[in-house]
Amino acid sequence: MKLKALIATLLLIVPFLFTGCSKSAEASAPKAADGLPPEKMADALFSVMNGTRTAYTKHVIARLGKEKKLIKPHEKWEDKDNGVMLPAQMFRYARDLAMEANPGFTYSLQSEWPINSQNAPKTPIEKEGLQYIGKNPGKNFYGKETLGDKTFFTAVYPDVAVSAACIDCHNDHKDSPRDDFKMGEVMGGVVIRIPMK
Ligand code: HEC
Repeated sequence: MKLKALIATLLLIVPFLFTGCSKSAEASAPKAADGLPPEKMADALFSVMNGTRTAYTKHVIARLGKEKKLIKPHEKWEDKDNGVMLPAQMFRYARDLAMEANPGFTYSLQSEWPINSQNAPKTPIEKEGLQYIGKNPGKNFYGKETLGDKTFFTAVYPDVAVSAACIDCHNDHKDSPRDDFKMGEVMGGVVIRIPMK
């Protein structure tokens, strides 16, 4: 895994720079790298994904769309002059690039009440995880699953209505199975899947 390799490299290099003693640095590096729990890695990945999408929703979609009416966030954004992609689409485009750069690792935005039926949970762990985060606000779900001949660490994080733009758009959307989302409510979840050796 690239992140693990980077951390292992840093652990090897940094003590060497300060002490000049490569032997003890070499001895401690594998232990520290192996000790990185998958929860920590998934948590860090999620914080980056979530921060980026929230910033886009609040500072681009809500400000320039809903408030100033300068842009039109829309599923078919490419067909419109001032169209811009929805937060969920931004998330998916970035995901496709990330997965291309780091094959084996996957993530997706899902919901028990999806506008796009493709975003409904499919595996038993996805279903369990989404139900769990809906019933336990503020908590994440961690599990393991085997798909084909591969084992994955699978984490599910709540996707919360952080801006009025989230609930307005979902509640008004013709394909949304719900029209009663409220601010701060869990609207779905981000499923992160990390392959295990
Ligand atoms: C302007 C409309 C709009 C805004 C704003 C918006 N969404 Fe969505 N959202 C959609 C549409 C449309 C989809 C389905 C897009 C797709 O998968 O192609 C979607 C997908 C999702 C999904 C995946 C499940 C589903 O419904 O298909 C979740 C979860 C979600 N949005 C949560 C949020 C949250 C949380 C926010 C605010 C941070 C937000 N959305 C902002 C329109 C919007």
